[in-house]
Amino acid sequence: MTDVSSHATALPRPPAPVPLAAPLGPISTMRVLRKNPIETWTRAHFELPIIIGPTILGTIAVINEPAAIRRVLLDNAANYNKDALQKRVLGEGLREGLLIVEGDEWRAQRRTLAPLFTPKNIASFAAATDEAAKELIARWLRLRQGRMFDIQPEMARVTLDVLGRTIFSDGLGRDPSEFTAALTRYFLTLGRLDPFDLLDFPDWVPRWTKLTSGAALNFFEDVVDAIIERRKRLLAQKGAAAPRDILTLLLEAEDPQTGAGLSDAEIRANIVTFIGAGHETTANALIWSLFLLSMSEEWRQRLAAEADAVLPGPIEHYAERLVETKAVIEEAMRLYPPVASMSRHALDCDTLAGRRIRKGALVMVSQWVLHRHKLLWDQPDVFDPRRFLPGAREKIDRFAYLPFGAGPRVCIGAAFALQEAAIILAHVMRSFTLEVPKGHEVKPVQHITLRPEGGLPMILRRRTRSHN
Ligand code: HEM
Repeated sequence: MTDVSSHATALPRPPAPVPLAAPLGPISTMRVLRKNPIETWTRAHFELPIIIGPTILGTIAVINEPAAIRRVLLDNAANYNKDALQKRVLGEGLREGLLIVEGDEWRAQRRTLAPLFTPKNIASFAAATDEAAKELIARWLRLRQGRMFDIQPEMARVTLDVLGRTIFSDGLGRDPSEFTAALTRYFLTLGRLDPFDLLDFPDWVPRWTKLTSGAALNFFEDVVDAIIERRKRLLAQKGAAAPRDILTLLLEAEDPQTGAGLSDAEIRANIVTFIGAGHETTANALIWSLFLLSMSEEWRQRLAAEADAVLPGPIEHYAERLVETKAVIEEAMRLYPPVASMSRHALDCDTLAGRRIRKGALVMVSQWVLHRHKLLWDQPDVFDPRRFLPGAREKIDRFAYLPFGAGPRVCIGAAFALQEAAIILAHVMRSFTLEVPKGHEVKPVQHITLRPEGGLPMILRRRTRSHN
């Protein structure tokens, strides 16, 4: 446990729902699960290593003991599948992608895709990320000082821009705003828990929350198919210089064991997956970082100073030098984990934290609970990025802090996301100060990702420093 008590009085305590004294009844649970699942947790969840109980979703074991989490995600991972609810909520477009597939299909895809995210490839994406961040700064510099605006769409736009530049670096070949609109419509519907999903209705029963997503998904997939075809033709032309972006890497990817490449459907599903899994998650990590920084003058100054020192240097590996920036992002993902829970189905019985887990039980790791757990963190509800500075960071149990999950199904884009968030945050902190308007209440809600309800209005002010 990292000790932050010596500093505790000055540390900001950002907003969070107060844990319930006792579990809700079934109808209230259903209502709150649809509205905001993080409001269903009770005090006991934040205090005990494991809680097993009957719920409207069947028996659920919520585990907070790092050794038990390690068993589920790593040591005995073969006994735990991703659960059906999670898959249904994520929807059609992601179905054949890495996030959803299981068993041999997953193993083959993971082997094939892992080389896309090597440190060398990730470092090569820094320049495109830097360009997207600079475009954001240029856009904000044109805005009136002291202006209030919602930073949620701004962060969603910049993270989508980064994915666009790194996946299809030669553009979409059509109007990007039409593409973005279809994409937004599609992913908006993904975040909603449908009552039919909660009640475990069969897949063929239409979900009203998903009806609008079909057309958007078709349009979005057609665009991606056209891009794949165009790139294939380019790669087939001898001597043509095809960009070394994620699309080319996907088309060239081979399973190191079998030599098999990815099918067109797998390439398309993984492009949708990378955008779906990497867009809003990273945007929310940034939004919460900016929100928390608005509460701490000390950390605003520290990050601005770090950005002044590092950003003028060479781009290659500069994210590695943004040490304090990354500590803030990690602390933001502790307090407001973009992925706030993960669940698995036990294929066979097991023992976790000394308790028997029945075959078929749902096992849940809630990052929201785990990252604020009383047994694992000192002053869990306060913002203190020092926990993640070198020297302290190494003392955090690998299975007590899981913004990107762990084990074989750990987020494949974790290093990409952290580099991206650090570059964008450093650019913003170097040029601006952002504050939340007085009287505005920030409320975290879990709609697939954890986001501030209704967006996050902030007042933008240019930092007094000559901009270069
Ligand atoms: C701050 C940003 C991000 C967060 C917090 C995040 C979080 C996560 C988590 C928690 C998982 C594991 C889910 C589970 O085990 O049930 C996961 C898996 C995954 N993430 Fe991320 N992610 C982020 C960014 C990205 C990016 C940028 C990409 C792609 C470019 C990406 C692609 C994936 C994929 C494909 C998986 C599935 C891996 C597998 O099952 O083998 N993520 N992510």
